[in-house]
Amino acid sequence: MTSINSARRDLAARLEAAGIDDAALEAKHLVAAATGLTGASLIAEGQRDLTEAEAGRLEGVASRRLAREPLAHILGTQPFWTLDLAVSADVLVPRADTETLVEVALDLMPASTPGIPRILDIGTGSGAILLAILKERPNAYGIGTDISPEALDIAERNAAANGLDGRSSFRHTKWADGLPDASFDLAVSNPPYIASAVIESLQPEVRLHDPRLALDGGADGLDAYRVLLPELMRVVKPGGAMAVEIGFDQRDPVSELAVQAGFDKVTVRSDLGGNDRVVFARKRS
Ligand SMILES: C[S@@+](CC[C@H](N)C(=O)[O-])C[C@H]1O[C@@H](n2cnc3c(N)ncnc32)[C@H](O)[C@@H]1O
Repeated sequence: MTSINSARRDLAARLEAAGIDDAALEAKHLVAAATGLTGASLIAEGQRDLTEAEAGRLEGVASRRLAREPLAHILGTQPFWTLDLAVSADVLVPRADTETLVEVALDLMPASTPGIPRILDIGTGSGAILLAILKERPNAYGIGTDISPEALDIAERNAAANGLDGRSSFRHTKWADGLPDASFDLAVSNPPYIASAVIESLQPEVRLHDPRLALDGGADGLDAYRVLLPELMRVVKPGGAMAVEIGFDQRDPVSELAVQAGFDKVTVRSDLGGNDRVVFARKRS
């Protein structure tokens, strides 16, 4: 028999040997998932032996993680901003870097914005960006679009689970197709922006488990922006704003596309790691 604590230590060592970062933290999450124990009870019961059922479940989740399935897919949830979001293989696992886009969006649309500000999130995936903004702006209404109906199901579930379904709706459409001109105060997007040839060099959690549709930005990674920037210009109200996430080396071409689309005051914001992460701008009043 093995105690919970020693199972946790053994698993951390196996994850570390497999090259997984944050092995100790991931082992804790997997042991919690297998035992149903969290926080204080995981510590309080740490000396007791795993039951046979718990040991079986732990080996099941451990072997999935050792085969490089993302932790978020195994747990079925991923924290993002102040939310705990449902995720699956049908959506990109929301990334901490994307919180920079949420910060920019909140700066562009302060809490003092009058009326019912309208927000659009193009390629919403799990709904992460839109729901984080709506959570911080209780007077706002948001629409999320995606080309993947499976992703939209998850976004809808996340909206309902966070009490935001009354202030959001989700549309199955390509980019902003079918949405009216000049109808949003703020439009955001984290589009697929990885150059096709680079995808094969990414870590297995990403290349094998994030949806290709969420990653592939075409030959130079910029295909989505070429369509998106003019579309953002079309749907944003005069005086409104847009913000898009970018790859670390895309500030110049994406800024140039924003200028070509007619945006004013094009600016770049870095993420916490110091990489250029968001291009944002205003549409002239
Ligand atoms: C990088 S993921 C971002 C997901 C989510 N917004 C986030 O930040 O976690 C890009 C999303 O764009 C969607 N997408 C790809 N092509 C699209 C298109 N032509 N129209 C609408 N959405 C698209 C994908 O299905 C995916 O959900």
